[in-house]
Amino acid sequence: MSSITRLPEHIIQRLPQSVAQVARTRPLLLALGIVGTTSSLYYLINDYFRFKALGKGGVPNNITGYLQVLLITPLARRQSRITDTSDLENIVKQIREQEGDEAVFHRLKLEERRGERPEVRGIIPQRQTNAASTDEMRKKLVSYIGSLASKYPTLLRASPSSLEGETDALFVQRHPSEAFASSNELSSRILSSTAPRSELTHIHPTEGSLHVSLSPADSMEVIRKGWGTRHRLSGKLEMPVSYTLVYAPQNEEELEVVRRILRAGVEYVTGCKVE
Ligand SMILES: *[C@@H]1O[C@H](CO)[C@@H](O)[C@H](O)[C@H]1NC(C)=O
Repeated sequence: MSSITRLPEHIIQRLPQSVAQVARTRPLLLALGIVGTTSSLYYLINDYFRFKALGKGGVPNNITGYLQVLLITPLARRQSRITDTSDLENIVKQIREQEGDEAVFHRLKLEERRGERPEVRGIIPQRQTNAASTDEMRKKLVSYIGSLASKYPTLLRASPSSLEGETDALFVQRHPSEAFASSNELSSRILSSTAPRSELTHIHPTEGSLHVSLSPADSMEVIRKGWGTRHRLSGKLEMPVSYTLVYAPQNEEELEVVRRILRAGVEYVTGCKVE
């Protein structure tokens, strides 16, 4: 075998001393080392450009941000498993057994979404890489979260995202027990970790998808019926386990479904009924 991988002597003589030593005694090891290093480098460079292409959001869109994401990658859900809802299923089962059906908070009954799921990439930021919304669709969504905030000013507030920078977001104003009379309350089971930094949803400016805080049961419904997917850090690093990416709506019909999903998120996080 070593005759196949042995390098010609005139080449070996040009190599640095230490490498030449390995080339003479362990040619195969040297070959593997070179292939390994080159392909890891190739992978990293490609991976960096894929990260750059996702645009702004959460971490700086440069090498610093890329390294931050690399560090948390071992914690994140695998890209190939972001439609897996088995852990949510267990949580829902547990809530049902311990606290009853009401506490499960399954608000959404959705139709199956038509067509292929869009391609989703990235951890921070997490974005669709195809099937973006039109600008018009995105503006309608932004104006919808604005209208929810003005309709329920004691409950909700629209302002720039604290998680992703300058993009439009909807926040929980304060604890619902202070904000609303009990007649509006749906559930007393308000989890403190349901919305990271009180941010209920934000809309991604580049492609029109959204991150939304939903109940575990509603998150499952959204993912199973094809309307969204898991955040790769859901349930990790203080992110709610049911934090969900909802795909960018393509038309009025889909926009209406996304509005329903948003209302379900508002109701879950605030515990109050909204229309
Ligand atoms: C990346 O961007 C951030 C924020 O804009 C900045 O603080 C940091 O120095 C940049 N890093 C590099 C390597 O340019």
